[in-house]
Amino acid sequence: MRDSMAGYNQAITEIIERRFSCRTYVPRPIDPKIREELSKILKELTTGPLGGTVRLELVAACPDDLAALKSLGTYGFIKGASGFIVCAADRDENAMEDCGYLLEKAILFAMDRGLGTCWLGGTFNKSGFSRKIALIETEMIPAVVSVGYAADRRRWFDSYIRRRAGSDSRLAWDTLFFDGTFRKPLSRDKAGAFAAPLAMVRLGPSASNRQPWRVVRDGSRWHFYLQRTKGYGSRNMNLFKLADLQRVDMGIAMCHFDLTARETGLTGEWLRAEPGIEKPDDLTEYIVTWQCGE
Ligand SMILES: Cc1cc2nc3c(=O)[nH]c(=O)nc-3n(C[C@H](O)[C@H](O)[C@H](O)COP(=O)(O)O)c2cc1C
Repeated sequence: MRDSMAGYNQAITEIIERRFSCRTYVPRPIDPKIREELSKILKELTTGPLGGTVRLELVAACPDDLAALKSLGTYGFIKGASGFIVCAADRDENAMEDCGYLLEKAILFAMDRGLGTCWLGGTFNKSGFSRKIALIETEMIPAVVSVGYAADRRRWFDSYIRRRAGSDSRLAWDTLFFDGTFRKPLSRDKAGAFAAPLAMVRLGPSASNRQPWRVVRDGSRWHFYLQRTKGYGSRNMNLFKLADLQRVDMGIAMCHFDLTARETGLTGEWLRAEPGIEKPDDLTEYIVTWQCGE
């Protein structure tokens, strides 16, 4: 079953396995038909699973953009992107997760249509991006995404192989997923039909590749926790005025889990219902629960 709303041509697991952060592009404009399709999808992606509202827009790249990325402490060097997807999110409680979820959905669509992308975190509230999207006072730009055709086709293939081989750049499965309590890892066997959605959470992109997502299974409920990297959020938020990027990471994990579960025929919904599960440390906070449908 394909996600008809998002109109992906390939299986979602294939798209997620092939995705990588593309930082070098060929200077070629995006095919007009694909550009149109992408712009249409962006218009539809307005409300996140937690009820937050965003506006996503595809804008053409200009020389000023690189300066904005550099001055905001964005650590990657983006070369030759044809455009950027800019996310203006309403400043509400769930803005970060919803931005992560919706923007990742757009990224997977772009990947499906043969484009390369890279998440760029920051607050771009005062940059040229804010003018391009006509940012208003009640909104913020937590991240933008570069888009274009990847420069090195071989890298796509290498990356695909790397992913299939189990990606050595990700934390071990048994440090991320748990059975009832944080003290008991959840085996792939025990995860059953949910092994695929969890595997796709693990392949998700995250700010500085910190992989802060943790999931605890509790009967028919899957509780998502954020295990913050010590000093990371507060230091970056104060120094560089960055958005809370680890909460954006959580939204990305929710997107991968949700789309993969749905494609496998598993139904469910997101709710906030913190269970009484003991957390391993002060850095760990509850975010959201996926409740299986009947
Ligand atoms: C919220 C977020 C912000 C990110 N910000 C940047 C950035 O500013 N510069 C950059 O080069 N990469 C950025 N990345 C990409 C990560 O470094 C990348 O996802 C991670 O290293 C894993 O590599 P992969 O995406 O190739 O799997 C960001 C990723 C996320 C999810």
